[in-house]
Amino acid sequence: MNKIISTKLYEVDPQNPDKKLIKQAAKELADNNTVVFPTETVYGLGANGLSDTAIDKIFKAKKRPQDNPLILHISDLQDLDRLCEINKDIYKLAGHFWPGPLTIILKKKKTVPTSVSAGLDTVAVRMPSHPVALQLIKEAEVPVAAPSANLSGKPSPTRAKHVIHDLWGRVNVIIDAGPTGVGVESTVLDMSSHPYRVLRPGGITPKDLERVLGGKVKLYVSNNNKPSSPGLKYKHYAPNAQLLLVEGENKEEIVLKIKTLGEDYQSRGLKVGILITDEMLDYLINKSCENNGYSNFYKILTLGPENDLDIVARNLYSKLREMDESEVDIIIARGFEEKGMGIAIANRLSKAAGNNIIKI
Ligand code: TXA
Ligand code: MG
Repeated sequence: MNKIISTKLYEVDPQNPDKKLIKQAAKELADNNTVVFPTETVYGLGANGLSDTAIDKIFKAKKRPQDNPLILHISDLQDLDRLCEINKDIYKLAGHFWPGPLTIILKKKKTVPTSVSAGLDTVAVRMPSHPVALQLIKEAEVPVAAPSANLSGKPSPTRAKHVIHDLWGRVNVIIDAGPTGVGVESTVLDMSSHPYRVLRPGGITPKDLERVLGGKVKLYVSNNNKPSSPGLKYKHYAPNAQLLLVEGENKEEIVLKIKTLGEDYQSRGLKVGILITDEMLDYLINKSCENNGYSNFYKILTLGPENDLDIVARNLYSKLREMDESEVDIIIARGFEEKGMGIAIANRLSKAAGNNIIKI
């Protein structure tokens, strides 16, 4: 069994964090301890990225498989040169998207411990834009290795309470700066070989990258036999309940399908959770009234409006966790079209659903 750590909780203002608390957290990093901190995407479980002892603590705390490499977080572009082989495209992208939710993968230099890269000859690097993350990394004076601060396989944390749920007693410090902004993890772009490939879609889309690079970027299509990113072969972002996704073109048909499926599961005695958009909820309620009886599902949650996928992304993980809190047996969710932010949302939902996808 893992030793229980006495976790300290620091509450800070997201824009203007208490300098003393940031210094104390940076000191923990210097002592090779673990510090959970907010980024603009999700909360990260940080440790000194140049120390094997510290990195080992990350893997233990989140029960992460050893062959899944970590992202190094930096606060200054100058830090890049000592970590990896750089080329001119990096400056184009960094100039445009950093600090921000873009992770780039490059050939690593010897400075990077093999425990960070899980034995690969490449390393993932990102400069986050959250003021708390930037100040902490700067103060720590080392690159900070940080995966998402959830137990391996669970939805990434977008609020400190999610981190407390998963990692209390397993990390040294949790910095609470309120909810994160983007809500899904950074876009991961492999620039270690040509053509450049997006290994994990995020808020920055392949089109955004192409516009800046002036060249083609491929969206990696998952092939379970040979995943190009070790992380891709694991079950991810999954709530405890089974997740069933309903995908289709027509919103009304999707709602009706979700309703029929939900009623069927319910009649078999299962607690059914429905995860839809604001507009779909209105339609579901109207339909249920017309049909002479409101479908009394155990839990119905909305992700946000159809026409603002940034809000949907921001809410996604906290709604999946809320479903788990209410202990539903099955979640039936609306699938999203793979366009813009929808690419990242669809990617996370389909991974959470495994092969449980119904196309209508
Ligand atoms: O938004 C984010 O990226 C958050 C915040 C905390 O920065 N971090 C995050 O880290 O999501 P993590 O470890 O949960 O996801 C990193 C992904 C994993 O799928 C991992 O396999 C992949 O990046 N990765 C890391 N290094 C890699 C490498 N050298 N080659 C291929 N894939 C790599
Ligand atoms: Mg993760």
